[in-house]
Amino acid sequence: MERRDFVKLCAASAASTTLPSPAEAATLKARLYRPALLVDERGQPIRAESLRAGVNYVFDYPFAATPCFLLRLARPAAGGIDLRTENGGAYRWEGGVGPGNAVVAYSAICAHKLTYPTRQVSFIGYRDAPSPVAGRGKVIACCSDRSVYDPSAGARVVSGPAPQPLATILLEHDARKDELAAVGTLGGEKFDQFFRTFGFRLELEMGDRAKASVDGRAIVKELAAYSAQWAQC
Ligand code: FES
Repeated sequence: MERRDFVKLCAASAASTTLPSPAEAATLKARLYRPALLVDERGQPIRAESLRAGVNYVFDYPFAATPCFLLRLARPAAGGIDLRTENGGAYRWEGGVGPGNAVVAYSAICAHKLTYPTRQVSFIGYRDAPSPVAGRGKVIACCSDRSVYDPSAGARVVSGPAPQPLATILLEHDARKDELAAVGTLGGEKFDQFFRTFGFRLELEMGDRAKASVDGRAIVKELAAYSAQWAQC
């Protein structure tokens, strides 16, 4: 690759006897998984420029059974936002990648009680339009218990019982080819808890593939094609 716009990873800060500034408090490191090029259902690389703002795209990463949202926001997502997990881990979200720095991705597993898009139905998703739970819209809303996350601010919690932001999926953008790859996560992952909670169901649905690492390619679909029904709230 000639040039890569890579999501800037937060740096671990040294222990300090004084109260750290928000930047110094960024203690959570990114977790790098096997890179996966984002492709369409025909296996062709997704061009960031071809993503439509306001459309809720989904791909599975870093495991075969863990869905993520891919969004192109209407405005640049500048980043530099300090966030915290429910365990107090601090990290800095450095914004979007690609055209206008507007392409972002997050784990689609709700940070409250792990609601996630299944093949049958999704109770969580990006709402571009206003709604009773989404307020003015342009948020990720979970209809299970009404948690709302702001995708333009690292999926911080806007309202509801979620105790932390959705985990960020780190994206790499190849500016020359305009291709996107998922490379890791930042923030409060819920994968262990997810597999403990839904392991039996996932095994029935997917066999032993559920926990397989996504390697090489991840297929991007619109949420309407990923889940047969989409709960509105
Ligand atoms: S599971 Fe999403 S708000 Fe409770």
